[in-house]
Amino acid sequence: MSLFRKKNIEHMLAGAHSTSLKKSLGAMDLMFLGIGAIIGTGIFVLTGKGALQAGPALTLAFIVAAIACGLAGLAYAEFASAIPVAGSIYTYSYATLGELAAWIIGWDLMLEYGLATSAISVGWSGYLQSLLAGFGIHLPTVLTAAPGADPHHVTYFNLPVFLVMMAITWLLSIGVKESTRVNNVMVGIKVLVVLLVIVVGVFHVTPANWHPFMPMGYSGVFGAAAIMFFAFIGFDSVSSAAEEVKNPKRDLPIGIIGSLAVCAVLYVAVSAVVTGIVPWQQFAGIPNPVSYALKVAGQNWVAGLIDLGAVLGMLTGILVMLYGQTRIIFAMSRDGLLPAKLSSVHPRYKTPHFTTWFVGIFFGLIGAVVPLDVLAELINIGTLAAFSMVSIAVLILRRTHPELPRAFRCPGVPVVPILAVAACLFLMVNLQPVTWIAFIAWLVIGLAIYFVYSRRHSKLAQGEAAVTSESNVATH
Ligand code: ALA
Repeated sequence: MSLFRKKNIEHMLAGAHSTSLKKSLGAMDLMFLGIGAIIGTGIFVLTGKGALQAGPALTLAFIVAAIACGLAGLAYAEFASAIPVAGSIYTYSYATLGELAAWIIGWDLMLEYGLATSAISVGWSGYLQSLLAGFGIHLPTVLTAAPGADPHHVTYFNLPVFLVMMAITWLLSIGVKESTRVNNVMVGIKVLVVLLVIVVGVFHVTPANWHPFMPMGYSGVFGAAAIMFFAFIGFDSVSSAAEEVKNPKRDLPIGIIGSLAVCAVLYVAVSAVVTGIVPWQQFAGIPNPVSYALKVAGQNWVAGLIDLGAVLGMLTGILVMLYGQTRIIFAMSRDGLLPAKLSSVHPRYKTPHFTTWFVGIFFGLIGAVVPLDVLAELINIGTLAAFSMVSIAVLILRRTHPELPRAFRCPGVPVVPILAVAACLFLMVNLQPVTWIAFIAWLVIGLAIYFVYSRRHSKLAQGEAAVTSESNVATH
């Protein structure tokens, strides 16, 4: 039964109220945080891969992926508004599904947040190199990509990935507040760039490029949806900032659903424009498909601006994902499931300094040596598994804690959470078999760690109420 031991929700809420994390974020800050995490490598880079699979029906693939996210997002929002404590769905599931499920979710989230920092950095590196090439600057080829990422060249290490990860890690290690301010400016740039693509690109669309609309049929559309799901990942990271929100019950649902909706509209428009400018077959091997489309349209200046905006804007994605990852590891360590060192707090900066650097260096190296498409599929499968579990958890919470106040209630329970699980599983089966094998290997490693280490070191197991009041991490 110890596998199902649960945290006490009332204790957690009491702990969250007495925590020393500063409550400084409002609904708009959260939307910015969400959009900052969402828009990135997905739309700027994977669009090309999605177009090769779905053709012009990439727009449809985005809609399918957005529906799956929207359904899971409704469940997320209910959790986030009912249990506004740090640690994202890892924490929520600890209170509802029990310790083992919480561990598995936390472990899956490392595929999401951690590997996403690597993946976004790879996309960033592609746009940086395109930008530099515009000025005639070229890095030594061996340092431009992961081994095997470019079939035409010998490459060893993606140096820009590692460097950008170190810079962001430093920013986060010295404190949240600076990071949030920087984030808001960057998000503005990123949204402007996306709007620029739409507004300029629409005049260069050749509608004939949209025919046939679905060259690979529905299987192509669903395969692309499973990949493009990546482009929406990040809206959930809003919930990891729960303890720092002024009015979590109102602001969290607005932040999550709002940022998802804004991005869905932008993505459909961008994918319609780029597949309208460039025949979809021509996206093979293009690392910067969005600015490429504008170059094809003869808009070199706009393409350059897009390169620049993408380079600046994608920084926020890396930042928010890295932030989410450190806070989940922090929460797991605080609960005793990971070594205590990982929840140590820097005396001056009041941030989880050690964890931030540990995570930054680890995923910086991964991003430098693993190709993007491998990373993206792994991230998607881990995230979809976690989303399915949170949707199940919302149903459980309704039964076990019907009286718990929820500022936001997921509509259509149980139908909506059940549809969310079905949608996530559907996207998962559209991923490649090799991704499934890697995912299962990841789960087996996670379970081994749980049974060898975490189960015995768990604070709940030691009879201590692992409540969030033990936290002494703070922003400044
Ligand atoms: N959704 C994020 C991106 O597209 C992970 O980069």
